[in-house]
Amino acid sequence: MDRIAIQGGATLHGEIPVSGAKNSAIKLMAASILTNQPLRLTNMPRLADTRFLGQLLRQFGIEVTETDGPDGQETLFDGRDIRSTFAPYELVRQMRASFNVLGPLLGRTGHAKVSLPGGCTIGARPVDLHLMALSAMGASIELEEGYVSAHAPKGLRGAEIEFPFVSVGATEHALLAAVLARGTTVLKRAAREPEIGDLARCLIAMGARIEGLDTDQLVIEGVTSLNGADWSVIPDRIEMGSYAVAAAMAGGEVRLTKGRADLIQALTDKMVEAGVEVTPTDDGVIVKRDPKQRLKAVDVTTEIYPGFATDLQAQFMALMTTAEGESVINETIFENRFMHAPELARLGADISVHAGEARVQGVETLTGAPVMATDLRASVCLVIAGLVAEGQTVVDRVYHLDRGFERLEEKLGACGAQVTRLKGEGDEH
Ligand code: EPZ
Repeated sequence: MDRIAIQGGATLHGEIPVSGAKNSAIKLMAASILTNQPLRLTNMPRLADTRFLGQLLRQFGIEVTETDGPDGQETLFDGRDIRSTFAPYELVRQMRASFNVLGPLLGRTGHAKVSLPGGCTIGARPVDLHLMALSAMGASIELEEGYVSAHAPKGLRGAEIEFPFVSVGATEHALLAAVLARGTTVLKRAAREPEIGDLARCLIAMGARIEGLDTDQLVIEGVTSLNGADWSVIPDRIEMGSYAVAAAMAGGEVRLTKGRADLIQALTDKMVEAGVEVTPTDDGVIVKRDPKQRLKAVDVTTEIYPGFATDLQAQFMALMTTAEGESVINETIFENRFMHAPELARLGADISVHAGEARVQGVETLTGAPVMATDLRASVCLVIAGLVAEGQTVVDRVYHLDRGFERLEEKLGACGAQVTRLKGEGDEH
């Protein structure tokens, strides 16, 4: 198993290009099930999660070809024949979002059997809203031996669906199912995360009829078939936000390019409040901070978009560990998303957690130590803390990080960070 070693103390200077968004790419990949024509996705990140989903799509008979084209990394999906509609536990378990192939498989073929994803370290993460939406669209659903068997032999039909609370995954899933349903579907209390907007725009490019983009009500007029398309994945706001926090933590001046400042506004507002200089540019932001000056503690509460992203909470907590004063961090999206707090404490952070609230009392210095990544975003928060911890920090279980960060050592290293991957024995890469 690989580990990442960080030698603390270097300031960061340079440029970091933001990759395409993981959480958009995997939704766009699921859209390839909906058409028998080629879908070409550009600005594709190469991550463990996109590999998992690629494997699953291949199992359905979709050809998945990764190339380096004139526009950078791209992947071509050719789903002319769907040979199987079975998604086994071994593949779905590796990445929860794989469950969202159920709706498009139903839309395209009228039946599918997909493993239930199970919980994960950040929370129970049920899929009841997903199933509620598909049932409302006329699918008959049976749960047996950990699998969902769904049938809609005459096709799905449009429905009015009001989600009891906002779910990114359920909105995306219902949207992917509704585009080929007969009649009109209305999704109320829909998620407005930018990745949903990206998916909706790509589906429109494929011939879908969707109104209400970027609002909490999507209206979808079903069509009988969709075309292929060429689509460029939006920038990864969580990767961008993570590097913005890394630059703020280490100090120095970093320009984030190939991104979009508006996508991380809630984060940068808080960073500015804490004393970081953030300047928006045409394709990103410049983050500047004098490492000799301590930041001020500020409070954050995670919210649905455009609020402060839960996927940036761990990184922000790392930043607050050395700020002056106490920062109160409230997590409202997932019930168990403070697993990084005890690991940060191993580096000397002073954090107390009670239910959904963490209190971070800023300390003057952190000290390097071996720590363990517990989930994807928690792993990058430990790397961020390691940038200022005196001595060496070694982050174990880096496979979490590899699910969502492309070439992290290279990107941070190019700005002067001392970050090295230690290859695990017996690992293939
Ligand atoms: C997406 O997860 C993201 N994943 C998550 O990013 C992100 O943290 C989350 O949205 C919130 O922004 C992807 O896009 C692949 P939800 P998702 O459905 O869709 C509960 C990362 O690190 N819920 O909005 O699973 C659920 O348990 C990942 O990249 C139900 O109760 O999130 C949670 O408490 C981690 N029933 C809340 O809703 C359901 O049927 C919000 O979850 C569905 C969700």
